[in-house]
Amino acid sequence: MSTEFRWGILGTGWIAEMFVTDLRATGIEVTAVGSRSQQSADAFGSRFDIASRHASYEALVADPEVDAVYVATPHPMHAANALLAIAAGKHVLVEKPFTLNAAEAAEVAEAARRAGVVVIEAMWTRFLPSMVRIRDIIAAGTLGEVRTLIADHDQLLPSDPEHRINNPALGGGALLDLGVYPVSFAVDLFGAPVAVTAKGDKTATGVDRQVALILEHDGGATSVLHTALDTQGANTATIVGTEGRIEIDSVWYEQTSFTVYAGKGSEVVERYDETVVSRGMQFQAWELERVVAEGRGESELLPLDESVAVMAVLDEARRQVGVVYPGE
Ligand SMILES: NC(=O)c1ccc[n+]([C@@H]2O[C@H](COP(=O)([O-])OP(=O)(O)OC[C@H]3O[C@@H](n4cnc5c(N)ncnc54)[C@H](OP(=O)(O)O)[C@@H]3O)[C@@H](O)[C@H]2O)c1
Repeated sequence: MSTEFRWGILGTGWIAEMFVTDLRATGIEVTAVGSRSQQSADAFGSRFDIASRHASYEALVADPEVDAVYVATPHPMHAANALLAIAAGKHVLVEKPFTLNAAEAAEVAEAARRAGVVVIEAMWTRFLPSMVRIRDIIAAGTLGEVRTLIADHDQLLPSDPEHRINNPALGGGALLDLGVYPVSFAVDLFGAPVAVTAKGDKTATGVDRQVALILEHDGGATSVLHTALDTQGANTATIVGTEGRIEIDSVWYEQTSFTVYAGKGSEVVERYDETVVSRGMQFQAWELERVVAEGRGESELLPLDESVAVMAVLDEARRQVGVVYPGE
């Protein structure tokens, strides 16, 4: 891709470090970083050799040397930060979950369309080479009619009540941080569900600790999903069709390998072993650059309406489990 496209990083936390590490390793240009403090902007800037270091998000989005802003703040800030960048005429890659809820997601999508800028949710899994290959296999009909997705995303995360994963004020809970991956995968495969059933429980801080979900899709397909923030899950996924299945190895939502079984005896018809070295966060940046360069407006791999649909599923699951965030 072009090395002339310039990225600005909004927020200097953990995932911003992962993203910039992959961008730097693949020759993508990062010209600026913005933080709530000059000290953090300077520390991040010197660590990654980024020339412009801004002491506010407002100054970052106003930087004329920035073409696209990557929003890497906690979920409750995503909508406001994305809207700030859109208002400044920037393209935006917004960390997952796209926003805190579907109402915010719809507002960001509408603002992006009105401003004519490209906005994509940084659901990086969608853009990985393994997922591109999986979509091709399904489209080729190897699995027959695809009927079921079974997937989990369970991690043992810090138990500190102040940590953003446990803190309602920072959008804590398993669903928005982890469950968003299998829900997004289900929506990718089968479209928005027609019915959502969720059972779960909460942490002492009042966010969802674990949730089991069943999504029913048009045409009879079903997604069986699980997420938890305090267990060490298999983190595997299986896509099941009438003629075969794909078993995606742990960790399914990262760069990984998978096996395709098909035919009467469930023979192995393809084994995919990932060869790309890195976390794989550059693929979503390349996708945004491509969409801008080709004037397509939106990513076909992750259209805005799908990000809104994913948030609507998470809203409904939270409603059934009884998780409400401050200000909602
Ligand atoms: N794609 C992935 O694999 C992946 C993995 C982890 C997280 N994420 C997503 O990335 C987002 C950030 O997660 P993270 O783990 O990087 O969080 P983090 O380490 O806590 O960093 C968040 C950053 O946001 C900024 N920020 C703005 N307002 C804040 C507030 N009120 N409290 C705390 N920080 C605030 C801070 O940067 P400044 O101080 O510089 O302003 C902070 O460093 C989340 O939405 C999460 O879902 C994605």
